[in-house]
Parts: sequence; C-alpha cells; structure tokens
Amino acid sequence: MLILGLESSCDETAAAVVRDGRSVLSNVIASQYDLHAEYGGVVPEIASRAHVERVLPVVRKAVAEAGVALKDIEGIAVGHRPGLIGSLLVGVAAAKGLAWSLGVPLVGVDHVQAHLYSGLLHEGAGDAAGLRRGADELFPALGLVVSGGHTAMFRCDDALRVTRLGSTIDDAVGEAYDKVAMLLGLGHPGGPRVDALAQRGDEARHEFPKSRLSPESLDFSFSGLKTAVLYCVRGFPGRDGRWPERGSPLTEREQADIAASFQRAAVGVIVLKVERALLRLRQEGVRAKSLLVGGGVSANSRLRVDLARFADDFQLKLVVPPMEYCMDNAAMIAGLGWERLSVGDRDDLTLAAEPTTGV
Ligand code: KG4
Ligand code: ZN
Repeated sequence: MLILGLESSCDETAAAVVRDGRSVLSNVIASQYDLHAEYGGVVPEIASRAHVERVLPVVRKAVAEAGVALKDIEGIAVGHRPGLIGSLLVGVAAAKGLAWSLGVPLVGVDHVQAHLYSGLLHEGAGDAAGLRRGADELFPALGLVVSGGHTAMFRCDDALRVTRLGSTIDDAVGEAYDKVAMLLGLGHPGGPRVDALAQRGDEARHEFPKSRLSPESLDFSFSGLKTAVLYCVRGFPGRDGRWPERGSPLTEREQADIAASFQRAAVGVIVLKVERALLRLRQEGVRAKSLLVGGGVSANSRLRVDLARFADDFQLKLVVPPMEYCMDNAAMIAGLGWERLSVGDRDDLTLAAEPTTGV
C-alpha cells in the first residue's frame, strides 16, 4: 500500500511516499532555516506562510522522486499534532484536499509517536510480510523521543498503543543543546556542532549536574544543566544581578571541554532514566524486547554509542533511525499512518490540527 505522508508541524515542510509502512520511496524536506535565522528562532507566522508556498511543490517532488503518479497513492497521512498551530493547519488542509480529490483515506498521526516509528523505516523496497513478522521481535518496546521540542519515554505495546512513562518538566534535550551552542558561539544548527566539538574535548573537565529529580522519577529536567553551562561560560552574576566583565574569549580547547562535559551530563542522564524506565517496566511484568529511539538528538554520536552499550547489557534490540530519519520528516508520518490504516482506522475531513501531543 502506497502512502503519501505530510509533515508541517514546525519549520520543515516535508512529504514522503512510503510503501507498506516501511519502504521509503522518497523523503523530501524543505527546510525554512534561512527564513528564521536572523530572528534566532522559528517565527510562527513566517513558518505558516512558507508552508503554504512550499507544500504542493514538495508533494509533487516526493511523488516524482518515488517514481509514481498521484493516482497511485492509496492513502494520505498527515502529522496533525503537536506543533505550531498555524503550521499544522497548512499540512492538514493540504492533506484533506489531496485525500478528498484522490478519493483515498485520510489519517492523522501524532508527530511525537511518529518519531518512535522512524527507526523502522528503510530506503527502497522491502518485504511487507517479513516486516510484519519482524514487529513481533520488537514489541513490547521501551520508546525514547529526544528532540528539539520533546524529551519523553514510552511503553509501546505496538506501534499504535503507546503510553507515556515520563517527559521533560522544562527544556527538551535538543533545546539545551541549541542553547549551549549559542552560549559557546557555535551558531545553528546547535546540536550537531556541540556534538562535533565535544569529540575533541575533555569530558571530565567540568562536573555539570545530572538532574535525577526524585529517586523514582521517569521525568527529565535540563534547565539546571543549561544554567550550569551558562555560569561556567559567563561567571556568576553579582548580588546586583550584573554579569562579571567578560575576560578574553574562550579558547577552542576550553569550548571543547565545556561541550564534552555538557554532553557527558546530558547523555548520561538520558541513559540513567532509560535504565530506570526499563527496570520499572520489568517490575510491572513487562519485558521490553527493544528500545525504539527517535527525534533529532538520536543523531548524537555519544547517545548512539552509550545506548548501544546499554542495550547490549540489558539484552535489548536497539532501534535507532538511519541519520536521514532522525530529524523531522514525513516518512515517519506515512509509516505510522499505514499502521493506522492497516487496522482499519481512518479520519474524516473534520480532522483537526492540535497544538499538543496525544501521547
Ligand atoms: O526532531 P527534530 O528535527 O525537531 C523537533 O521535533 O524538535 O530535532 C531537532 C533537534 C535540534 O534541537 C538539534 O540541535 C538536535 O535535534 N540535534 C542534535 C544532533 N543533531 C540534531 N542534538 C545533539 N546532537 C546531534 N548530533
Ligand atoms: Zn520532531
């Protein structure tokens, strides 16, 4: 079954054609990075307008690159939550128009849940029956989404039945990466730059806090870590609230040590919480067979190595997305949409865009 997926929750306009939920025939992403760069963050109105301009060209490109025609598409999946409401509305309206005009079913997909699905995707043709059988080896699973907007863990009974175990109470981990990059003057995109710099630094140079919260907590907090990096870079503000005079700029060596120490704390606390969650599930009689990881930060080199070691120690199959499916994309939307359609689920033209996640 050929599904066209649409994604427009933030600042990427994306469309993808996916066969049988796993085989990605095309994955087109139009980034709006240049439009927002001068404002230091995504401006919602600019994002919505850019989605309007790009959505149909991106769909046409995805269909052409897949080597199919629009009339071959058998279902339309759209990320309808969570995200910037104006941005989501554009994707949802386009998806409704396409589904209606092609006479094919429409399914709305939760973007956060779709990130968990991205590790199941692969490029090119695949054997659908084999992939379905493969699913038995994955579920129940423990899910981890680490991105610029979300940091959360889930119990996944299957691709569709997902229950949240914990999430961040303040910043998302990707947001912390981006802010640390800004403090170190690395610019955008922050996460990959901090990751690259950290590889040249001494991670034991600074002891940054790992926020465990209460001993049982499965939630995350990254704002304390971010503030610790701020004080390390700029010194402590005085009683009058003034920052100390800036001395000479950080050397590249100092920057690298800060990046490495930050990364050790950020990744360390994620692995610690994943272990807690796994043990909690085991106490509840759920033996997770795999760890499904998704979101932009799943591209992080240190996180990938540490989670691989963790999965090995706990005899879990680790499912991390290929690099091209870590960041926001529409292939994951089409994949999860196919799962919904496969069990007879579909939405009608009243499908609403929603700012918050449903998982
Ligand atoms: O999933 P995504 O594209 O968007 C959201 O749904 O938020 O994730 C983007 C986030 C950004 O914060 C970016 O800095 C971070 O993922 N990121 C990384 C790396 N690559 C991207 N963070 C750490 N290390 C990386 N290699
Ligand atoms: Zn995302």
